[in-house]
Amino acid sequence: MNNNENLSAEMFSRFCELVYDKAGIHLGPQKEALVASRMGKRMRALGIGRYEEYYRLVKDDKDGDELVEMLNAISTNVTYFFREEHHFQLLTELLQQWHGGGQRSYRIWCAASSTGEEPYTIAMTARAAIPDVSDFKILATDISTRALDVAKAGRYEPRHLEKVPESMTRRFFRKEPADAANRSYVVNDELRRMLSFARLNLARPPYPMKGPFDIVFCRNVMIYFDNKVRKGLLDEIWRLLKPGGILMVGHAESLSGMLGNFRSVKPSVYIK
Ligand SMILES: C[S@@+](CC[C@H](N)C(=O)[O-])C[C@H]1O[C@@H](n2cnc3c(N)ncnc32)[C@H](O)[C@@H]1O
Repeated sequence: MNNNENLSAEMFSRFCELVYDKAGIHLGPQKEALVASRMGKRMRALGIGRYEEYYRLVKDDKDGDELVEMLNAISTNVTYFFREEHHFQLLTELLQQWHGGGQRSYRIWCAASSTGEEPYTIAMTARAAIPDVSDFKILATDISTRALDVAKAGRYEPRHLEKVPESMTRRFFRKEPADAANRSYVVNDELRRMLSFARLNLARPPYPMKGPFDIVFCRNVMIYFDNKVRKGLLDEIWRLLKPGGILMVGHAESLSGMLGNFRSVKPSVYIK
């Protein structure tokens, strides 16, 4: 069935409320066209012609499966390996410092891991920083099951690896198929073993983890939240970090007035 209906201003604002209520995501008016086209596609897949009908389906959906599908359709999962590289230089310094002080076990949480480039970058950086590391665990979470599936598969096209140093590509990825021109790169077991994946909605504290984590990466997701959701998230990160633990956020994220007892170390880096 074709979806010929236009998304009315009223219906758009009801979807905005629903998305905020369920996921804390604040959709501005500039998202109207995106919402209309992405949801329209999902509705066509379901054979639903009217936005009102789709709205009801998501709102009344008891097990939350269609909510996940809707968020998959409208969320922006843009990410890449070694994004905001200075965080990974700092990660190297911190790990070497802690390792030098005798620490042998590390816990890191990547709070909006999207399609996996960020947690795999953390894993590669850790391996390169402390070669004999054995007890190193990275928890990678996201609200989007579609993004998590890509992350779990760990399979990337060559153009996605442009920012990965050649030596790391050789060490941590295998080519599949080995000889084809259009090959993809698949993360090897050495990296994969360091990661675990889970779906987590950051807008619904408290989270089920106990911590403590040495470092939390929570980058380029708070931009979608309003201050109330950000505050709930930052309080949870505070609870889950060890004393002296580090929080890294995206450079475009302004947290002024919400940081509580976090101290700023440098732009976009905070310490508990
Ligand atoms: C722009 S990507 C950022 C990915 C990565 N952290 C980076 O900096 O490259 C934002 C991610 O946040 C996720 N996200 C949005 N709302 C969320 C929520 N309420 N809970 C958990 N993850 C959420 C999206 O699914 C998406 O994968």
